[in-house]
Amino acid sequence: MTIQTIATTPFAGQRPGTSGLRKKVTEFRQAGYLENFVEAIFLTLGDCSGQTLVLGGDGRFFNRAAIQTILRMAAAHKVGKVLVGRGGILSTPAVSCVIRKHGAHGGIVLSASHNPGGPDGDFGIKYNIANGGPAPEKITEAIHAHTTTLAEYHISDAGPVDLDQLGTVQIEGMQVEVIDPVADYAEMMGRLFDFDAIRALFARGFTMRFDGMSAVSGPYAKAIIEGMLGAPAGTVINFEPLEDFGGHHPDPNPVNAAELVALMNGPDAPEFGAASDGDADRNMIVGRNLAVSPSDSLAIIAANATLAPGYRAGLKGIARSMPTSQAADRVAASLGISCFETPTGWKYFGNLLDAGLATLCGEESYGTGSDHIREKDGLWAVLFWLNLVAATGKSVNQLVHEHWARFGRNYYSRHDYEAVDSDAADQMMQALRGKLEGLAGQAMENFRVRQADDFVYTDPVDGSVATRQGIRIIMTDGSRIVLRLSGTGTEGATVRLYLERYEADPARLDMDTQEALAPLIAIAEQVSGLKQRTGRQEPSVVT
Ligand code: G1P
Ligand code: ZN
Repeated sequence: MTIQTIATTPFAGQRPGTSGLRKKVTEFRQAGYLENFVEAIFLTLGDCSGQTLVLGGDGRFFNRAAIQTILRMAAAHKVGKVLVGRGGILSTPAVSCVIRKHGAHGGIVLSASHNPGGPDGDFGIKYNIANGGPAPEKITEAIHAHTTTLAEYHISDAGPVDLDQLGTVQIEGMQVEVIDPVADYAEMMGRLFDFDAIRALFARGFTMRFDGMSAVSGPYAKAIIEGMLGAPAGTVINFEPLEDFGGHHPDPNPVNAAELVALMNGPDAPEFGAASDGDADRNMIVGRNLAVSPSDSLAIIAANATLAPGYRAGLKGIARSMPTSQAADRVAASLGISCFETPTGWKYFGNLLDAGLATLCGEESYGTGSDHIREKDGLWAVLFWLNLVAATGKSVNQLVHEHWARFGRNYYSRHDYEAVDSDAADQMMQALRGKLEGLAGQAMENFRVRQADDFVYTDPVDGSVATRQGIRIIMTDGSRIVLRLSGTGTEGATVRLYLERYEADPARLDMDTQEALAPLIAIAEQVSGLKQRTGRQEPSVVT
């Protein structure tokens, strides 16, 4: 074993909010940089002797090198055993699944989610705890604190492990088991969903296109959708994880998955389209001429959940992040169950799931999941939709329109202003906060403000309080404007503006979304001065 001295502060410049460290590959490749963060994890964990850890990533550039370093450091810290995915591959949901199934102490996930990969792209690392979910703030703060004070790290002098060979090898006193990255996850999906019904659907000639976007969902989708469910070869495209994602931007939304959306709008559209992101925790569901809004997807899954075997007993509750539309709230009300509103970020769902208060959870940012693991799960959502289609015989379009007819439609859109000047963004939020009190009761366009605040969340399980989680301007009819700064962007600041308007009139369920939201967009600009303050005429991305 070697003790190396270091002097890096890997978190410098990162905005708070991300559950791990996410930076440019060029930074991660500096001597001692990754090592600093990993040493901080081990210092936070304390005695790991005899414990099992799970390790894997989304296959992006630097994944394999990082895994070799982490294995040698784990051995130096006397970890009992590490389960690592073959080829260094494990999707984020698969890490969560493997941690839980094997009773591991925790896991290390290597991914920068949907951020671009490659030598000039991004890399990321985070720690997940024994429940399979991202470490809570108590732990991430301890890791952060260690990164600023530690002066050395411990690493074994052992050579590299062959990551492509299934089986167990030894580094010093530590076992390294290279596991099939798909097996445990696929087995779990087979228990949750009606694979027989979905197999029968494909056997009848049902057509689908799943775009793996050259990221990590490919091997999972290929094995499950084509392998286990019998969809014809070619159903899953871009299924090989590439170090630079083949130049794709693996963040499924109608902008980045434009090819898939064009296919679904064209004459040769299959019946069902889907895509996932870099680390396979996000999902996009597309019907013919219709990209399903993630907020609607959560609500529709919730309303039909008992059609899937794993959810036959019904739902304990639903949880959604604050900016996510209130479509799920209406379903929860009709089912007589609670709907929890949490800050943005999956980690806030963990306590609700662990305590049995919620079964399903979702975010507007293409994240949907349930209590089966403690991460959002892209392929799970796709399989849920396939199960709904197979069980009802209805198309994606029919399921969505019937849902709107029954519950009304929550028109919804998110406008992102990316890489804007950090100070300008902070000043805009500060100025808005100062205006909130004066907004209540004001009439604007055809709306009247019922409430304007900066969202505060009190965790119903442990009582912890999260403040400043996003500015909400809520109208008397439930329409909303929400503004917050991204915690995951890696360049300057990203301002997110979320817009929502409820419509129950059956004659007004098929409007253009941006048109339906136009009055709210105007109010948002009037109140925030977003365009003027950021110097931007248009949002960078509209979803
Ligand atoms: C974004 C999404 C958020 C999600 C997070 C991690 O965070 O908005 O819903 O949990 O990525 O996938 P943001 O950049 O908005 O802080
Ligand atoms: Zn992701």
